[in-house]
Amino acid sequence: MDELIRTLVGEHVRMRELLRQAKESADSSDFEAVSRDLRQLEPVFKQHIADEEATVLRLLIGTLGRAGAEDEIKVFQQHRPIYKLMQTVSELAAKNAVELRMSQEELNGLFDVHAGAEEGRVFPKALSCVREK
Ligand SMILES: [Fe+2]
Ligand SMILES: [Fe+2]
Repeated sequence: MDELIRTLVGEHVRMRELLRQAKESADSSDFEAVSRDLRQLEPVFKQHIADEEATVLRLLIGTLGRAGAEDEIKVFQQHRPIYKLMQTVSELAAKNAVELRMSQEELNGLFDVHAGAEEGRVFPKALSCVREK
């Protein structure tokens, strides 16, 4: 679990970097670059959330039960809306500059809050579940 979480945190770093690039591209109205950055991000994010749900979430629910893992379940429920927003931003990159910038900012903000919650609360709790076993 320790190694898996190191990998997940490393992926957060990579995804934050791609989102930062996409935001820069959106700010300078380089829509092709936004599409390109998000095309790179999408498969990484998809695999990342699948891994988190299959390992970290499973462990937490298995150890603490649904009630004990309530907060973590809420954090993982952010995966779908973040993924949807990512698709919206991709679509906007082809048409609406103002909305693109706003949605890009919202996406980056949501992702930051999400990854921060995982790193600050979810992953430490998963690690302590493993240690108590
Ligand atoms: Fe996540
Ligand atoms: Fe994550």
